[in-house]
Amino acid sequence: MNVLDLFGYLIDLLAVLLLALGLKGLSTVRSARSANGLAALAMGLAVLGLLLQLQPDPMAWLWIAIGTAIGGLLGLLTARRVPMTAMPETVALFNGCGGMASLLVAMAVALYDSDGADLVELISIVISVFVGAITFSGSIAAMGKLQGWLGTPGWTQSSVRHGVNIALAIAALVGAFALPGDPTGSPLWLLLVASSLLGIGVTLPIGGADMPVVISLLNSYSGVAAAAAGFVVGSQLLIVAGAMVGAAGLILTQVMCTGMNRSLVSVLFGGALGGSAPVGGGGGEAGYSRIVSCSAEECAMALENAERVVFVPGYGLAVAQAQHALRELSKLLEANGSEVSYAIHPVAGRMPGHMNVLLAEADVPYEQLLEMDTINPEFPRTDVVIVLGANDVVNPDAKNDAQSPLYGMPVLEVDQARQVFVVKRSLGAGYAGIKNALFELPQTAMVFGDAKAVLQQLCTELRSQGVGKAA
Ligand code: TAP
Repeated sequence: MNVLDLFGYLIDLLAVLLLALGLKGLSTVRSARSANGLAALAMGLAVLGLLLQLQPDPMAWLWIAIGTAIGGLLGLLTARRVPMTAMPETVALFNGCGGMASLLVAMAVALYDSDGADLVELISIVISVFVGAITFSGSIAAMGKLQGWLGTPGWTQSSVRHGVNIALAIAALVGAFALPGDPTGSPLWLLLVASSLLGIGVTLPIGGADMPVVISLLNSYSGVAAAAAGFVVGSQLLIVAGAMVGAAGLILTQVMCTGMNRSLVSVLFGGALGGSAPVGGGGGEAGYSRIVSCSAEECAMALENAERVVFVPGYGLAVAQAQHALRELSKLLEANGSEVSYAIHPVAGRMPGHMNVLLAEADVPYEQLLEMDTINPEFPRTDVVIVLGANDVVNPDAKNDAQSPLYGMPVLEVDQARQVFVVKRSLGAGYAGIKNALFELPQTAMVFGDAKAVLQQLCTELRSQGVGKAA
């Protein structure tokens, strides 16, 4: 081993450490941005380490430089252009690229460099092609569904799809078992085609709103495929990085399932029963008998006198793009002497961290964002809670009604607060498609309207009362 090789390995080690630190940093809002920078630096170092280890081969340098330049440019353009609301589709596309990269590496080794390969290498090729192809085609199908390019075909909602998917899985297995005997021949192509179709077959039936869970799972798969590709080409860096991504994706999938009180099995196989339909069914506007509604003016009066105010953002806040209006209202209340915080449910919105990102866009201070376990004990001493386009995540039936489809899902206990205002356009249901018992509680009043319009009215009302003049 020469000095450049040694230097290359040390850089690899540094890249692994930075990647681990980056992943850890992503777990808190405050450190997430710099952690992302660390992970990007780790990727840059990984490329540098590889170049050093390949120093006698200028052609390899050139190919890597071209690939890095094209990939980097595409990444930069995507990061600048894609709106936050399209983030699930973007993550799906990135996962698909990860799966495809591992798949191509394994295919190249199988086709051109598998002479004399040992069993471990051949098994790694099989895993990399199988998982990489499922990740690629599944992620592209997920992106297509989220973008509205792909629907949910009727046959995928019947038991036919189980038969089709089982047949594809068997075909992939046949290819996998035959591949060590003939790594460049038809078993490889059978494995590739059957796995790719299987990725589409398992993703297509899943309802759009369950897609974030599937995308997180596919993210985990992309890590597994990368780790397997690491074994194929003998790269410790790829093995470690792939294993970390695989584990992180799996943990996130588990967190999302717990937050929704759904099992992964019901997300993956429930599509046959309900497809993109709500998990609970029914709901709608019917079925409420004791609803009290009030105007923005009345809500503003309560806010003016409140010492402690908690905002609960939900999916509707993102739809209304009301984050900046919300920040403006918070500033007015703080100027009026109120203590303001935001209650963040782990699955509020449609993707992990949706609300954190939304509020960060409007420069809401991180320390005001309180997670469910922190904020729940605070609700009994809260004067006013404003629920903004959230529904399921504040439904008390999740605690009180064993018959509710949400029963067992941890929720924000806003029903413990002294006064609750729910801002939404109608009595329509949320994602779970069920009635919300919160709306009928005596301390609750509905403020009907688009979240942004209502927040702007509240600001106008408060200003007309002289609130915020000194600020
Ligand atoms: P939801 O329960 O989906 O409720 C959102 C509410 O926003 C709706 O009831 C809707 O009522 C209202 N809304 C829509 N547009 C609005 C607008 N312009 N202005 C004001 N309100 C508006 O949202 P949530 O409480 O955030 O719960 C999230 C749900 O998604 C949970 O059931 C969760 O399990 C599920 N989910 C989450 C994730 C992740 S990772 N976050 C992933 C998959 C599924 P109106 O139509 O009456 O306005």
